[in-house]
Amino acid sequence: MSKIVVSGLKPSGKLHIGNYLGAIKQLVELQKKDYKRFYFIADYHALTTKYNPSEKRVEIFNMAVDALAAGIDPKKSILFIQSHIPTHNNLAWLLGTVTSSGQLGRMIEYKEKIKSGQVPNAGLLNYPILMAADILIYDADFVPVGEDQRQHLELTRDIANAFNNNFGETFQLPKALHNATPRVMSLSDPTKKMSKSTPNGCLFLSDPPKVVEKKIMSAKTDSQTSISFDPKKRPGISNLLSIYSGISGRSIEKLVKEFKGKGYAEFKKSMAKEMNDFLKPLQMKRKKLLADKKSVMKILEEGAKKAIPIAERKLAEVQKRAGLIPTPNDNRRLSGI
Ligand code: TYM
Repeated sequence: MSKIVVSGLKPSGKLHIGNYLGAIKQLVELQKKDYKRFYFIADYHALTTKYNPSEKRVEIFNMAVDALAAGIDPKKSILFIQSHIPTHNNLAWLLGTVTSSGQLGRMIEYKEKIKSGQVPNAGLLNYPILMAADILIYDADFVPVGEDQRQHLELTRDIANAFNNNFGETFQLPKALHNATPRVMSLSDPTKKMSKSTPNGCLFLSDPPKVVEKKIMSAKTDSQTSISFDPKKRPGISNLLSIYSGISGRSIEKLVKEFKGKGYAEFKKSMAKEMNDFLKPLQMKRKKLLADKKSVMKILEEGAKKAIPIAERKLAEVQKRAGLIPTPNDNRRLSGI
């Protein structure tokens, strides 16, 4: 049986190069393998912080456009919007009954959000349970994500284990897939992760060439002049080398050799040019897709149509294991009563 890959993108802000290099690049590359892929826009996950509904609707749609422009191919992957598959939430409820609230409170992302002043609503706390449901409902083998999602993946495995221990083997344990750039750092502060919540350190996939150039030329480095890779001692230039390597396909060693004896300005200029060359086809595709919104909607609807029966089948299995009575259209509903 082919392996199953599941991953989601949260529509809070636009996609940046960290999302691309940490996750999307893998999602696209995995399309060459004989796997079954479920990729989705995690819209429910984007509602845990204060938002404007009409802006959010656009953000959700644009995230799907960005994913398609970046290379998610609907002929190879099932692409859908999370809220179009209500079974994710049904499963999340059941998984919540085997998850300890203490564990949820220990999630780094949750603690960081609270520290940054966000209202600790229940959605923010329960966020990882829904994420576990997103993954377990499709019996995922692999979950390609950036390093920041590692803890959520570990919790997903703990939740799956807890359910299996209580009710018998129901879920398999998914593995996180990280690639060579699992943690892209901010351009303005390379000791912090590149994140949509601090947009000035982000290089967005939709940034115009002049903005890209400006962001790269002013990216924080250090007072040294040589180009070398040492993430601990020289986080700024090391981060730029990782990003440059990720978009050019040339290894970090090769780039270091290429820029031996050259200064930061030359390195950054060259990187900005290649970044713009890399982004150009993506941005052109994005523009085309935005001019044909109906087709994008159709892709998402087709995706949901394919995902719904698979998710419903799994939910029915889980409900049965958990002692619930099957729905009226299931003729097994009287068995065991
Ligand atoms: P999100 O939308 O914050 O990020 C999408 C993907 O990008 C990765 N990522 C990064 N990788 C490297 N460097 C960075 N600076 C960086 N920033 C983000 C993330 O790790 C992620 O893979 N909770 C998820 C969405 C989600 C999900 C899921 C993912 C919901 N359900 C089920 C996988 C499976 C999130 O907020 O990702």
